[in-house]
Amino acid sequence: MGVAPLWPSNSFTRSPAAAKTIQVKYLERVAPVGTSALFDLSGRVAVVTGGGGVLGGAIAEGLASAGATVAIADLLPDMANACAERIRARGGKAKGYAMNVFDRATIQSCCDAIVQDFGRVDILVNAVGGNMKGATTSPEQTFFDLPADTLQKVFELNLTGGTILPSQIFVKAMLDNPGGASIINISSMNAFRPLTRIPGYSAAKAAVSNFTQWLAVHLAQEYSTKLRVNAIAPGFFLTEQNRFLLTDKETGEPTQRGRTIIGHTPMGRYGTPEDLVGAVVWLASDASRFVTGIVLPVDGGFSAFSGV
Ligand SMILES: NC(=O)c1ccc[n+]([C@@H]2O[C@H](COP(=O)([O-])OP(=O)(O)OC[C@H]3O[C@@H](n4cnc5c(N)ncnc54)[C@H](O)[C@@H]3O)[C@@H](O)[C@H]2O)c1
Repeated sequence: MGVAPLWPSNSFTRSPAAAKTIQVKYLERVAPVGTSALFDLSGRVAVVTGGGGVLGGAIAEGLASAGATVAIADLLPDMANACAERIRARGGKAKGYAMNVFDRATIQSCCDAIVQDFGRVDILVNAVGGNMKGATTSPEQTFFDLPADTLQKVFELNLTGGTILPSQIFVKAMLDNPGGASIINISSMNAFRPLTRIPGYSAAKAAVSNFTQWLAVHLAQEYSTKLRVNAIAPGFFLTEQNRFLLTDKETGEPTQRGRTIIGHTPMGRYGTPEDLVGAVVWLASDASRFVTGIVLPVDGGFSAFSGV
């Protein structure tokens, strides 16, 4: 009589017949899922807050092109509707909704309306956020002059309103999804190392990354291992929010800051909003089913480059 092993034997210590059975079972589980099926979002309902904006809009269109039905929620319903219209014009399914992330009641009523329209929510992209000029240091406004209420607004726009409140409300609606759910936050380069001149925005995005990890652990431990939370950290995208920092208002030429950014981006260019789509579809889909709590840079190599 052999002594019982301390832990179950693996396929190497089992008999060849038992190992073969294990291998067949493994292949049955994995083989039918082709690579493209892993990224397929058909039948999923995605909510993109701030989807009326530049990056949120591109993300919404990308999710729709992967098959998702997309609810676009924004403070500006016209912008949300315009994005939904672009998706529908290409044969996708989408609808715009009004929502103010500073007002919990509007987030709740938006969530209720989406569940009423589409039956459930599987994917949440929290894309509301940004910096404010009044929270940026300049020769006219030093660090010592930055108004507390403007800094507070930046924290609220990116962290409390932009990320935490919508997560509270939409995740509650996702808790019982048999297939789980994916929450994707938008962090930034300044979360890894702060960028000069924008202390409030840098601190707020560092908090978004931190909260992403916190919520990933909390949901997996307390509710379901199928509820995943990740963030993307976009590099530098020339958008309305940062145009005044990166290009000269009069000449349109790159500012010194703009030149420094390109010089520190190994891929040598700004990102385009579409550059975010692959990363978001991956995080939203079963292709990343064992991934939670990460902050994924999409930055042309900026965060990897020491400058030398
Ligand atoms: N643009 C960049 O280079 C860059 C880089 C890194 C991260 N980000 C982040 O990406 C996200 C999207 O940025 P963007 O450049 O597309 O900005 P954007 O200003 O184009 O879009 C933001 C959207 O949020 C909406 N919004 C603003 N306040 C709101 C509120 N109270 N309630 C609901 N909606 C509200 C706006 O109407 C707008 O449609 C932000 O979190 C931003 O911080 C941007």
